[in-house]
Amino acid sequence: MLCNYVLLLVLCANFVFSDVIPAPKLKLRDGTEIPSLALGTWLGNNTKGRIEPHSTEVENAVSAAIDLGYRHIDTAYAYKVEDQVGRAVIKKIAEGVKREDLFITTKLWNDRHAREAVVPALRESLDQLKLDYVDLYLIHWPVGQFGNQSYDYTDYVDTWRGMLEAKALGLARSVGVSNFNQQQIDRLAAAGLELPAVLQVEINLNLQQPSLLAYCRDHHIVVMGYTPFGSLFPSKAREDAPPPRVDDPTLVGMGEKYNKTVTQIIVRYLLDLGIIPIPKALKPAHIAQNFAVFDFSLSQEDRDWLKTYDKGYRTIPQLKWLDHPYYPFEKS
Ligand SMILES: NC(=O)c1ccc[n+]([C@@H]2O[C@H](COP(=O)([O-])OP(=O)(O)OC[C@H]3O[C@@H](n4cnc5c(N)ncnc54)[C@H](OP(=O)(O)O)[C@@H]3O)[C@@H](O)[C@H]2O)c1
Ligand SMILES: *[C@@H]1O[C@H](CO)[C@@H](O)[C@H](O)[C@H]1NC(C)=O
Ligand SMILES: *[C@@H]1O[C@H](CO)[C@@H](O)[C@H](O)[C@H]1NC(C)=O
Ligand SMILES: *[C@@H]1O[C@H](CO)[C@@H](O)[C@H](O)[C@H]1NC(C)=O
Repeated sequence: MLCNYVLLLVLCANFVFSDVIPAPKLKLRDGTEIPSLALGTWLGNNTKGRIEPHSTEVENAVSAAIDLGYRHIDTAYAYKVEDQVGRAVIKKIAEGVKREDLFITTKLWNDRHAREAVVPALRESLDQLKLDYVDLYLIHWPVGQFGNQSYDYTDYVDTWRGMLEAKALGLARSVGVSNFNQQQIDRLAAAGLELPAVLQVEINLNLQQPSLLAYCRDHHIVVMGYTPFGSLFPSKAREDAPPPRVDDPTLVGMGEKYNKTVTQIIVRYLLDLGIIPIPKALKPAHIAQNFAVFDFSLSQEDRDWLKTYDKGYRTIPQLKWLDHPYYPFEKS
């Protein structure tokens, strides 16, 4: 009773002193809860290839995000920023944020697909993150590849067994997969193994994946959607990328109607698809905008319009792995 009263006070205080509404939570098939919006931490590629981390840019973004109300951070061993995420999280916990209120997702890289390599790989990530456990550990890709670039043909079903061992040890509260297709998830089930709690795949206006989302709904698998802005920004769009760009008149008009930015309209729409969008942003203004999406709703008519941008167009096809037997995407 007292507890409830205190909780109510805290909620009211939050409501009065900040106009940011927290992200609602979704329930995972294993019973745990996951915040429905995550901050992305991959620095991305420019024309010269991978952007390498400096020292504190991601740490600063994660700190700002937690201050603004984000409770879910998406990272990966391969992003080389787990140390920065860890420093921000430790600092915020020292300032009073509770570990159990944060949800940290990280991923197993392709060079650790051997079943017995999974737990040691996760322990390395935990060292970087300075945590005892992550909330969610994902197989980053179904495709195995050693450090020397030669393919590792380890069956991802075996890798999944290693993931379940990590969960049994309590090192990951939940486990899931990323960039798996429907047949690959079916193979985990056919092996008699627990299904992934989460599937993380690319989801944006140009790649809405309705049939994969329906499959996941049917199997109680929560979907996290990466690269939520797809080809919205001209600087990131390839020549062949379908519209819209950020200056699209219909989207700009929609933004004016709701007094929201085009990016906020898109994040709201992705939430309405029932997925967890993972917008990445380093700029504090972007981080704030992307989270201020829980105080409005789009009309059915506007959602119907946004659906028309779905062209099955992938911004991250990873064609370099096309000839791997476990390449997950359409081959043409
Ligand atoms: N599982 C996988 O294989 C996989 C693959 C790709 C991505 N991911 C995850 O998904 C996350 C997001 O995907 P992404 O990084 O590819 O792309 P994204 O989130 O679609 O786009 C990031 C870009 O959008 C800009 N931006 C963000 N919010 C904005 C706003 N409100 N207004 C204007 N510009 C804004 C960012 O700028 P600033 O940074 O300058 O603010 C950055 O340049 C990644 O960081 C990663 O965590 C996972
Ligand atoms: C980013 O660049 C690296 C290095 O050139 C490349 O190996 C990788 O495939 C690129 N990633 C994406 C998603 O394009
Ligand atoms: C690449 O690394 C793997 C694993 O260490 C090894 O088995 C394989 O022989 C290496 N391939 C080449 C071409 O060096
Ligand atoms: C529109 O949004 C801006 C930024 O969130 C806010 O400052 C402003 O008060 C809003 N205007 C109206 C009319 O709600």
